[in-house]
Amino acid sequence: MDRKIRIGALISGGGTNLQAIIDSCESGNIAGQMVFVGSDNPDARGLERAQKHSIVSFAVDYRKIIRGFKDEPEKISVPDDFNLEEAIRKQSFFPRDENPFRVKNFLLTRAIAEAELINKMKPYSCDLLVLAGFMRNLTPYFIDRINTDPKNPCIMNIHPALLPSFPGVDGYGDTFRYGCKVGGCTAHFIDYGEDSGPIIGQRAFAIQSDDTLDSIKKKGLQMEWELYSECIQLFAQGRLKTNKMTFTLANGKPVSRTVVTIS
Ligand code: GAR
Repeated sequence: MDRKIRIGALISGGGTNLQAIIDSCESGNIAGQMVFVGSDNPDARGLERAQKHSIVSFAVDYRKIIRGFKDEPEKISVPDDFNLEEAIRKQSFFPRDENPFRVKNFLLTRAIAEAELINKMKPYSCDLLVLAGFMRNLTPYFIDRINTDPKNPCIMNIHPALLPSFPGVDGYGDTFRYGCKVGGCTAHFIDYGEDSGPIIGQRAFAIQSDDTLDSIKKKGLQMEWELYSECIQLFAQGRLKTNKMTFTLANGKPVSRTVVTIS
């Protein structure tokens, strides 16, 4: 593929992964161009990185939306195209027996925030959306509006653990506290669950007895910067394919998974 792909990014914090991606685009290691950086947090330091590189940036204040929903639920306005039943059916980050009010409130507040995000993203069409330290779960409402071709997923995430172990918000912390002797990071496509989508690439490092949580975070982040840029470049080159495969588990039950192959 000769043309540069258009990349959008969502961040929540410091944005060192974002910086690595911007640098790789600028050096030509990624055949891409960053076209916007959005955040759920108006104070995210990563937004300044975007501004330094003259990249459009914006924020949707998730916290304010969630607080508003709690304080004045009668005032909320749900997007017209939001279908709660459909979102409940598709999502897989809550177990089926989760308190239905919790699930409903989560999906409603996120849909309001996500509709705002989609609106802000709309003028800057992108081929790939990268989550670079974005600490919010995206719901089926958002995912279906970005991933319009299910065979060609286009939302990628970097996670600070060797998935499927330790999904969630503290991958390195969970790895360290478990006493693992190996840690790592994973780049994957997003699906309707929490860090459960098809794996694109992984890097691992040894955890020694003198390692601390800080030292493993340091090792891990450096691997993330390299791994994420490499996986984004594979996407830019059109070398990532997804295949739905059915396997039989040891208990005899069939399981269907989407698997990424690299050509
Ligand atoms: C990174 O370690 C990234 O893997 C993690 O947040 C950090 C962001 O750092 N993401 C998640 O935990 C997503 N669930 P950065 O803002 O410096 O790129």
